[in-house]
Amino acid sequence: MFPYGCRCSQRGGIDIQVWRSGAARYSECMTTTPPLRVLLTGASGEVGTALRHGLHGTFDLILTDLNPPADLQAHETYRQADLQDPEQVRAAMAGAQAVIHLGGIANEHRYDRIRAVNIDGTQHVLQAAHEHGVTRVAFASSIHTVGYYPRSEQVSPDMPVRPDTFYGVSKVAGEALGRMYWERHGLEFVSVRICSFLQRPEYERNLSTWLSPRDAVQLFRQAITAPRVGYLTVAGISGNTRAWMTRDGWDTLGYVPEDDAETYLQAVQGRTQGAQGSRTESNQGGVFTEPDYVGLAATEPRS
Ligand SMILES: NC(=O)c1ccc[n+]([C@@H]2O[C@H](COP(=O)([O-])OP(=O)(O)OC[C@H]3O[C@@H](n4cnc5c(N)ncnc54)[C@H](O)[C@@H]3O)[C@@H](O)[C@H]2O)c1
Repeated sequence: MFPYGCRCSQRGGIDIQVWRSGAARYSECMTTTPPLRVLLTGASGEVGTALRHGLHGTFDLILTDLNPPADLQAHETYRQADLQDPEQVRAAMAGAQAVIHLGGIANEHRYDRIRAVNIDGTQHVLQAAHEHGVTRVAFASSIHTVGYYPRSEQVSPDMPVRPDTFYGVSKVAGEALGRMYWERHGLEFVSVRICSFLQRPEYERNLSTWLSPRDAVQLFRQAITAPRVGYLTVAGISGNTRAWMTRDGWDTLGYVPEDDAETYLQAVQGRTQGAQGSRTESNQGGVFTEPDYVGLAATEPRS
């Protein structure tokens, strides 16, 4: 495994990487170095927990979140940080060589909360990564960047965004920030548009949107280790027969999913979330595309 395209075959060799920005960087040959040190934000969340377990041994993980993982192990490094605080994020970044950025509000919320945690928080992560000489960030984006596409359309990463919520807008902003840090500073960025991360499909919609835990582990591992990706956006789904998103970019990453939601066809057939013909059942973003959907804002009213 030669992250960042190291072509050196000699122990202790140095690989010169010439970046699109024109800057040159040097990275130690991966044959002689210990596992990559990867900062995992949102480490206590659902996806974070799966990656934390699945990537243990592949990377030397630094875990960060607002709250520590419930089952933190003695061998694990945890650094508490609020994404809204650039100083805390900077401190958490110390020693990291790459970042998997999952932390944030994973649902619709009030715009001020979404902006502070998801948009400002992602800028804090990217700025700290740049300042610490990190060379690659993998970002948990979302299907809600393109939620208003009808289910009849195949969506590729180069199609115009159609965010369905402030949450979706925050993921579009995260992708744009990633693009800027790549163009301006040569910080490589892989955006994984996760659709539905679940142990198994729960509704008919998930036949198209499911991302299984083991495929998520493989996808984020490849997003960090695939050589010379530059800036890339990919669908975050398993190898679903009924996928609405195209597979563009998976070959660049070397991602070969092991699961297909079709295995669960009988279990979920007929399990819908809205009336036939409703926005919920017509659009890729599902219930998020209903004009009255407010997500977490319903449980945390403005104070
Ligand atoms: N689960 C899915 O199906 C899905 C789909 C699309 C995108 N995503 C994205 O993947 C990422 C992980 O999703 P998840 O399902 O694990 O969500 P989650 O809510 O379980 O985890 C998010 C984590 O972020 C942390 N967090 C929230 N605010 C924070 C702050 N201010 N500072 C530091 N940490 C903070 C939370 O404590 C939590 O542990 C999110 O960015 C989400 O938007 C998930």
